[in-house]
Amino acid sequence: HAAFPHVDIAVDPLEGTNLCATGSPNAIAVIAAAEHGGLLHAPDIYMDKIVVGPSNKDNVDINAPVEDNLKAIAKGLNRDVEDLVIVVLDRERHRELIDKIRKAGARIKLISDGDLSAGIAAALEGTGIHALMGVGGAPEGVLAAAAVKCINGGIQTKLFPFKTGDADRVKKMGLSGGFKKVYHTEDLAPGKNIVFTASGVTPGDLLKGVRFFGGGYRVNSIVMTCTPTLKTVKFIENVTVDAPGKISISLN
Ligand code: FBP
Repeated sequence: HAAFPHVDIAVDPLEGTNLCATGSPNAIAVIAAAEHGGLLHAPDIYMDKIVVGPSNKDNVDINAPVEDNLKAIAKGLNRDVEDLVIVVLDRERHRELIDKIRKAGARIKLISDGDLSAGIAAALEGTGIHALMGVGGAPEGVLAAAAVKCINGGIQTKLFPFKTGDADRVKKMGLSGGFKKVYHTEDLAPGKNIVFTASGVTPGDLLKGVRFFGGGYRVNSIVMTCTPTLKTVKFIENVTVDAPGKISISLN
């Protein structure tokens, strides 16, 4: 029906389950939507990622040496490599990456979970985070691309083989190019019209957490949209009161 066009939806109801379980910062609830075909249906395997802000979106290359990317990012931000903060998931598989970043002299922020919110922070100017690097979930990569596109940042990724059977899953989903293909922002989120929303669950760098009070709760969200002519970013504070008659107030 024309009034109800087909849409693609990507959702991560709780990004950072461990963060939430342990009351650690940066657990978020996320949903993105685009017109049909506007979000890549990625297999639930790992993905190697590099996420940067608007001034560096054309300067990095996921196939280039780490040191070269750091130099390019520093140049794009008109600063020294020593003044970069790079976020990496604290995982054994990143030992070599972490060594290379340290050798190059950049600062590292290791996170226990949540490379999606870190990716959004890397793409937003002024958060003090200049790039996200390393291997995390592929579905998180697609969601990150939807957000990154709305804020003019850049993401480059490659599906990353980890378990036996990963190659078959990639093939079954019809993704030619396998683990060699580089997916840019436009490959992951080709949609012309995209909306991306994240709400803070636990308090974090980007969003406040959910705050409950007697008979209600308050939620802090970021809502981003992207159309061919306009990109918008809004932070919204939503207060819901479970009183008789139920009141919901949005402040933005
Ligand atoms: P979940 O909320 O699904 O547990 O994901 C958290 C997360 O840290 C993601 O942000 C990240 O992409 C992925 O897990 C990393 O996977 P792993 O913990 O296997 O290294």
